[in-house]
Amino acid sequence: MAVEIISLPAPTSADPSSCPDFGREIRGINPNELNEEEFKLVSDLLYKHGLLLFRNCNLTPAQQYTLTKCFDPASENYGHGNKKVDQAKTSILHAYLKSIPAVPQVQLIGNGTVYDHEGISEVKLKHASHTVCHKTTLSEEEVAQGYTRFFRWHIDAALYELSPPKVTTLYAIRVPQGPNQTVRYDDGTGDELQVPVAPTAFVSTKRMFDMLPQELKSVAVRGRVKYAPHPYVWMSTAKLVNNGLSVETEGREVPYNELPPWDESKIKVHPMLWKNLVTGDLHFQVHPTCAAEVYIDPLAADIEKDGALFPEGAHITDLREVRALLYEMQRPAIAPEFVYPHDWSEKDLIIFHNRGLLHCIAGSLSEEQVRVFHQCNLAGSDDPTGPTNDDIKKWA
Ligand SMILES: [Fe+2]
Repeated sequence: MAVEIISLPAPTSADPSSCPDFGREIRGINPNELNEEEFKLVSDLLYKHGLLLFRNCNLTPAQQYTLTKCFDPASENYGHGNKKVDQAKTSILHAYLKSIPAVPQVQLIGNGTVYDHEGISEVKLKHASHTVCHKTTLSEEEVAQGYTRFFRWHIDAALYELSPPKVTTLYAIRVPQGPNQTVRYDDGTGDELQVPVAPTAFVSTKRMFDMLPQELKSVAVRGRVKYAPHPYVWMSTAKLVNNGLSVETEGREVPYNELPPWDESKIKVHPMLWKNLVTGDLHFQVHPTCAAEVYIDPLAADIEKDGALFPEGAHITDLREVRALLYEMQRPAIAPEFVYPHDWSEKDLIIFHNRGLLHCIAGSLSEEQVRVFHQCNLAGSDDPTGPTNDDIKKWA
């Protein structure tokens, strides 16, 4: 069977001209039985398009782990560490991820009560909903009218001790039925996005960088982000802004001296821009709600400083300023015309480039709407690569 590479169905809100390369459906290749040549093709397509969809897949947890590992053979443990999230009860991730006992790198996620699943006799899953951790919530009437919100825009990454996974695989086993919903951003813009029931929403972080005005591109190419120790515990007591892209700065984070024991050497500092090793593109790859500090290198002596931001460099430690800067740089790219909300069917497999996009759960489900997915990613065997000297010369 010939390999077909098909554009994804654009939602009505999409601006198809804005990122024509983002996302592809692949037909004619079984992701479960990739030979060397096919893997090379799939890998190149993934780094070029950011997200690949395979339909009608049959995939056991062990096969999903094997497939995910192909993209980073030296990696071994789940992106947050094997069974670490199951044990970390104060982490915000604890309620949403359940390790598959025989393959702890694969997580059961979803909604509703699930019985006799891969060695788990009974588990109650909870769809990540804005009602849990946003500063304000929609009223019951608004939810009944079909309104919903984004949950939390993110990269799949521990951002402490472990390196960010290169890819994530998401496999849909049971997909709930229900009418479309409307994501309300409620951030002062009036933006809304029509989505299918319980979608996963994706945005390209190449576009996030490409959209920036020159002065912010210069900040991005010189910028690094320092993440909090145990960031998912640190921000567990804070509230998200309505569109899920940032945190309300109200001093509610867990103080560093009250976190589980941590070590300065395990804190992660990553460049704002991550280099795509296949295309050479730069991706604005920042986990906005885990970020604690920003470093910006000074401009080189021979560069025109008129109109430049932070020409002498900066180390921003004020959380409100850190978040305001990141929000200014990231918000344009999550506008409705740039979001791909995937309309899941059972047996869909999505492989996404976790170092080249942000993603977010959305939608509201009742307890009866059962959703069963398997998710796998592996802590990277290395840290992401930042901009090259040529990139810095070009964009600073
Ligand atoms: Fe995720």
